Amino acid sequence: VSLRPYTTFGIAANADYFAEVASETDLQTLLQLPDLAKMPKLMLGGGSNILLTRDVPGLVVKLSIGGIEVVREDDLHIYIRVGAGVNWHELVLFCVDNNYAGMENLSLIPGTAGAAPMQNIGAYGVEVEQLVDHLEAIDINTGEKRRFAHADCQFGYRESVFKHELKGKYIITSVTFRLDKTPTFHTRYGAIQETLDEMGITDDKLSIRAISNAVIKIRRSKLPDPAEIGNAGSFFKNPEIPAAQFDALKTQFPALPGYPTTEGQVKVPAGWLIEQAGWKGYRHGDAGVHAKQALVLVNYGRATGNEILALAQQVQESVNRKFGIAINPEVNVL
Ligand code: EPU
Repeated sequence: VSLRPYTTFGIAANADYFAEVASETDLQTLLQLPDLAKMPKLMLGGGSNILLTRDVPGLVVKLSIGGIEVVREDDLHIYIRVGAGVNWHELVLFCVDNNYAGMENLSLIPGTAGAAPMQNIGAYGVEVEQLVDHLEAIDINTGEKRRFAHADCQFGYRESVFKHELKGKYIITSVTFRLDKTPTFHTRYGAIQETLDEMGITDDKLSIRAISNAVIKIRRSKLPDPAEIGNAGSFFKNPEIPAAQFDALKTQFPALPGYPTTEGQVKVPAGWLIEQAGWKGYRHGDAGVHAKQALVLVNYGRATGNEILALAQQVQESVNRKFGIAINPEVNVL
């Protein structure tokens, strides 16, 4: 089975077996089929955070479990339980339409609700972990269901327990999000305020819909649409370096941007480092570095996973040579 249509990088790789499941019970039934029990298994949501560099042995399961349901409500919050296969941006629009606040800064991120907590998706000053109340997942070996409270997920910057200790062990089937009845507007990050100004949105007209629209506008202007050019969003994470190293680099590269994070650490935008190392807009065959956002690697058509990976390694080495900073992939490389 060709996996090309199932990942946003659009890489030609094959799976021995492929199944699409639309419910939790179908998934449990599938996992219990004796013929499949011993096979390696890979789960796909929207396939928007994975780079395939080879054929995938065994079974690939695409999770298409749908459903959005309000499960609880109190004075301040609305809790919604969302099937893992629900498209992320459709979920954001559902929340905006219903005036459930919290997701608007995460507009237009590719992928599904079930995949969002895995890498703790984030954008424009908000990370999804701020909205996750709990989630449900199925043990890939036993088919048993387990509830993960927020703390069990061990969220970090583009990190969770599902990328580490529990990698490949659980399948997230639903996520329960906690949204706010009264919005807190996050407009300070990046170009949001500027974009709102351009759109003529004054403070008295600010709304979660206006923020969603501003984020959509910014993303469309910088990030390639996977329907047109294969990509998986930011390929690398933004590295954190010790403040002393940042200060030393700053004397050599006065324009170096940096954002203090935890005690004595500074987060540096990898996109800036990659651009300064000369890679922005680079293309070799069909593998390239996006011309408007250097953090995004792109497949212009027929690039193989290994060609993208080779380019990623060249970029890493060159950034390391120029700045002495190691940058690491955010995308899952298989
Ligand atoms: N920059 C450059 N050149 C570039 C790209 C960026 O100089 O080619 C500079 C910008 O000028 C700016 C800084 O780097 O000063 C930050 O750029 P931007 O706001 O575009 O954000 P980012 O740090 O490159 C992160 C996330 C994105 C998210 C944006 C907005 C990571 C790995 N990426 O990118 O997330 O949309 O912030 O919040 O943290 C993703 O994870 O797939 C993703 C797209």
